[in-house]
Amino acid sequence: MKNPPKIAEPAGKLGILLVGMGAVSTTTIAGVIAVRKGLAKPIGSLTQMGTVRLGKRSEGRSPLIKDFVPLAGLDDIVFGGWDIFADNSYEAAKTAGVLESSLLDQIRPELEAIAPMPAVFDRRYVKRLDGPNVKTGKNKRDLAEQLREDIRRFKDQHKLDRVVLLWCGSTEVFLTESPAHASVAAFEKALEQNDDSIPSSMIYAYAAIQEGLAYANAAPNLSADVPALLELAAATGSPVAGKDLKTGQTWMKTVVAPGLKARLLGVEGWYSTNILGNRDGEVLDDPESFKTKEESKKSVLDYILQPGLYPDLYEKLCHVVRINYYPPRGDNKEGWDNIDLFGWLGYPMQLKINFLCRDSILAAPIVLDVALFLDLARRAGMSGIQEWLSFYFKSPMHAPAVYPEHDLFIQLMKLKNTLRYLRGEDLITHLGLEYYD
Ligand SMILES: NC(=O)c1ccc[n+]([C@@H]2O[C@H](COP(=O)([O-])OP(=O)(O)OC[C@H]3O[C@@H](n4cnc5c(N)ncnc54)[C@H](O)[C@@H]3O)[C@@H](O)[C@H]2O)c1
Repeated sequence: MKNPPKIAEPAGKLGILLVGMGAVSTTTIAGVIAVRKGLAKPIGSLTQMGTVRLGKRSEGRSPLIKDFVPLAGLDDIVFGGWDIFADNSYEAAKTAGVLESSLLDQIRPELEAIAPMPAVFDRRYVKRLDGPNVKTGKNKRDLAEQLREDIRRFKDQHKLDRVVLLWCGSTEVFLTESPAHASVAAFEKALEQNDDSIPSSMIYAYAAIQEGLAYANAAPNLSADVPALLELAAATGSPVAGKDLKTGQTWMKTVVAPGLKARLLGVEGWYSTNILGNRDGEVLDDPESFKTKEESKKSVLDYILQPGLYPDLYEKLCHVVRINYYPPRGDNKEGWDNIDLFGWLGYPMQLKINFLCRDSILAAPIVLDVALFLDLARRAGMSGIQEWLSFYFKSPMHAPAVYPEHDLFIQLMKLKNTLRYLRGEDLITHLGLEYYD
């Protein structure tokens, strides 16, 4: 391939601003600091440990992704963020209870130095939470301007070259697109009028995109996935990615479902249930927040199994997803899947999956990867929806003309082909006939 896009070098420091400094954010921050100090390895991170094959299989070229594309180094990252609780990252990580004190104590000064800025928060959108570290303002537009000032101050204070912003806050109540989301003009008017259809996450997304920052959404709420904010992203050159990190049960679903479909095995029922005891679980115990999550978790099977194309196999699929808040387990989620499948001549079988996972341990490397890849996209002049990052999300953002791609293996191929494209390398088709000429 010729003429790869020009990519600016990752000179200077990269700021990563996290909205919501709870379990996922503090596990990410502490993890990066620990890796930087050589205390642990960045396991689960494609940007840090992954490779990409180049050229023919016979060439033996498989560099590390971080050596192949120009990514910011971990030493050049500066973290900041907002939360409705004023606890610094050390205290917040202790409260989250994901990482052991023995690790946190070794990086305590670095964590204590990262304290959240006052948040834009409204209980109407996250009913199970309330906290004191919250901004006040004349209207939502004023709050957005305050966030923009926070971003600029953070950038100046730490002498940063670039900043990316990720929503790692709680899952907001279920909202659908409304007229206020239709255009930038309608959105800005709605901000001034304190329109209910603009939740806190959209105010952060608006502020970030106005500042030309790359923006990602780790949660399932709409946030930047509305025409107004995509119109704004096109104008300011902001790359955007989301929604909802694909970590535990849904990740496993997007591994297993393509396998069943590849062998044309039918699925009559897929029952998924979880127990989860962290603050995320508490927020999701509210039916309105759970509805947002449920929509995100349920969509994957329809798109992977394509019942429209394979009615005999998947048309009658009954898909149920439950999350039960169960405090004793903390961040250590347990997920069960019961899959009722059928094979040759319709004979039934069952598959059971019991995944004893750790929510934030699975999420942290994704937050890091998404931040670094979005920064790369910004430097490569790629704006708007970054579909090649679908790999990381349960509800990948996509162009209106296409359906979202949920199959993990297609997503990975898309991601790696995008990296090859960015460096002017041949895309890999897996045809391979040339080996037998
Ligand atoms: N595997 C995973 O952990 C995973 C996977 C997919 C999605 N998510 C999503 O990521 C998000 C974070 O998960 P978590 O486990 O860290 O939850 P958490 O409850 O530990 O942290 C969320 C934090 O966001 C803060 N917050 C809420 N609204 C805010 C606002 N408007 N401004 C600033 N801060 C705000 C809360 O005070 C809290 O500290 C959740 O929405 C969760 O559903 C997590």
